Amino acid sequence: MSLDLKSLIRTIPDYPKKGILFRDITTLIEHPEGFRQSVEAIAAAHRGIGITHVAGIEARGFIFGAGVAIAMGVGFIPIRKKGKLPGQTLGQNYALEYGVDTIEIHADVLDAGDRVLLVDDLIATGGTALAAVSLIRRTGATIEHAGFVIDLVDLPGGQRLRDQGIALTSLVEFE
Ligand code: PRP
Ligand code: ADE
Repeated sequence: MSLDLKSLIRTIPDYPKKGILFRDITTLIEHPEGFRQSVEAIAAAHRGIGITHVAGIEARGFIFGAGVAIAMGVGFIPIRKKGKLPGQTLGQNYALEYGVDTIEIHADVLDAGDRVLLVDDLIATGGTALAAVSLIRRTGATIEHAGFVIDLVDLPGGQRLRDQGIALTSLVEFE
């Protein structure tokens, strides 16, 4: 039976700062069937289109991305915060609410001909996902699809990704 995934996501007001409604996926992943169904729904939306790798963004994107990779029978590529990957990396700056941060990918992990699905728990402004798309494209691989558990639809991330030619799947919307 299909669960109401939205009801398994807890909202914590004023975290990490006043005015933010934090959409907390720890209550979803603690629920075995909720976790399984969310991973399977993202995988099911992307079978049969030639995906060769799933890329997940540290940290919450690792939780779902690793599951989706296993469910799809493809490898997993970590996109990490600066300084964490041991090999040669490509880096991309992106805007945070205050200041900038950098994410990195191993420079030699993908080739032209690879087709990547990007997975994260949530899209808000889209800054993180757009930086990840840019990194994946710089490796020479193709990315045309991204899957999220949550889309904060009042924020522009979804549209910013579509503007980059990315088809977006999300399981739950919050205003
Ligand atoms: C959160 C979330 C996304 C990103 C979305 O990660 O997991 O990666 O923010 O926001 P955006 O669309 O405005 O870029 P966060 O940077 O908090 O890191 P975490 O996964 O390590 O908690
Ligand atoms: N990342 C960016 N905005 C968020 C929110 N409102 N809840 C959880 N994670 C987030």
